[in-house]
Amino acid sequence: MSIETSESDSERPVREISLTVNGETVSAEVEPRLKLSDFLRNYRDLRSVRVGCEHGVCGACTVSMDDAVVKSCLVYAVQADGSDLLTVEGLADDGELGPVQQAFHEEHALQCGFCTSGFVMATRSLLKETDHPTDEAIQAGLADNICRCTGYQNIYDAVHRAAEYTQEDED
Ligand code: FES
Ligand code: FES
Repeated sequence: MSIETSESDSERPVREISLTVNGETVSAEVEPRLKLSDFLRNYRDLRSVRVGCEHGVCGACTVSMDDAVVKSCLVYAVQADGSDLLTVEGLADDGELGPVQQAFHEEHALQCGFCTSGFVMATRSLLKETDHPTDEAIQAGLADNICRCTGYQNIYDAVHRAAEYTQEDED
């Protein structure tokens, strides 16, 4: 599959990539300059991947790549060849929200919602490293994500609740 926007595009070099996205094996022909964020949004229609600053500052485009959080605006799609990617769309199980999603929902940890996917993915990663993070650890762990609505307290409350749910899931 490839997306072409003009006749001259067909003369540009493309590379075949194959990767796993939310558990599904995906192959595509992409231009080497295509960003992973644009690949996920425009080729896979994964609209949770938000594009804000496009230079690694806001964290809205955060996804998991081989179980590490990455800012997908800083990664080319060709660099994700062979990797295992996860976005917010892949966190729900049979229509049931995952523990971090559920916690954000219950704590009303969003206002406009633009930043939320990135915070959810960053929280998931933080809780893999620290079972019950302190407020300071949460602030440090989520420092790469910016909420321009500035509703941070509810986000921090959601992380604490997500920590409880994640522990219950594992018990
Ligand atoms: S859009 Fe990627 S960090 Fe802002
Ligand atoms: S909820 Fe609006 S930017 Fe975070």
